[in-house]
Amino acid sequence: KLKGALFDLDGVLVDTASYHYLAWKELANELNIPFTKVDNERLKGVSRMASLDILLSLDKENRLYTSEQKEAMATRKNDLYVQLIRHMDASEILPGVVSLLKMLREQGVKIALGSASKNAPKIMASTGLSAFFDAVIDGNVAANAKPDPEVFLKGAAAIGISPDECAVFEDAEAGLQAAKSAGCFAIGVGESVNLPSADVVYSDLTLFDLSVYF
Ligand code: G6P
Ligand code: MG
Repeated sequence: KLKGALFDLDGVLVDTASYHYLAWKELANELNIPFTKVDNERLKGVSRMASLDILLSLDKENRLYTSEQKEAMATRKNDLYVQLIRHMDASEILPGVVSLLKMLREQGVKIALGSASKNAPKIMASTGLSAFFDAVIDGNVAANAKPDPEVFLKGAAAIGISPDECAVFEDAEAGLQAAKSAGCFAIGVGESVNLPSADVVYSDLTLFDLSVYF
């Protein structure tokens, strides 16, 4: 039986993908780069600067930018994103999440966040999710983005559970690869076609049966 649960944030606990998309789309418009919702799928789970590089790779004119210019673009995107998430509350927690977190706590399972986002603390606080977590590992404390296992290794260490006794809940293939490299059991949330590295996939967390794993 597993003793620890490590959660991704965006797309697993809250649906922020649409806000990330709107902010990237606005930046893309300002730069005159074509950018669609399908392109946005490639940014899921990917760090802010790596996401910017993917967006700039879609530029038909292949313009090159200095690192200062790229920093300014990433800041612009984040300012737009922060405006969009300003009013987030508990109503934006995804279905099944709160009851799962409650049941895990009741069973004494330790819970940590493993997210690439530097905005995780804001979102955890405004939605009330912080209350369920024993540890938060996010983009402010991790140097390496998924598929590097850093956030999950640090998450397992922070709750004092060996990674092979932890489950990771992830909606992105890069995150599932990170979970497997960390030695965790990898639970995909979404569509199996997009999540080949998952040990098991649930289309949403209302369908998750805790007693099978914990
Ligand atoms: C998560 C999201 C990505 C986002 C990344 C960095 O992994 O899935 O879409 O780019 O976090 O988020 P941040 O809030 O630091 O820009
Ligand atoms: Mg995610």
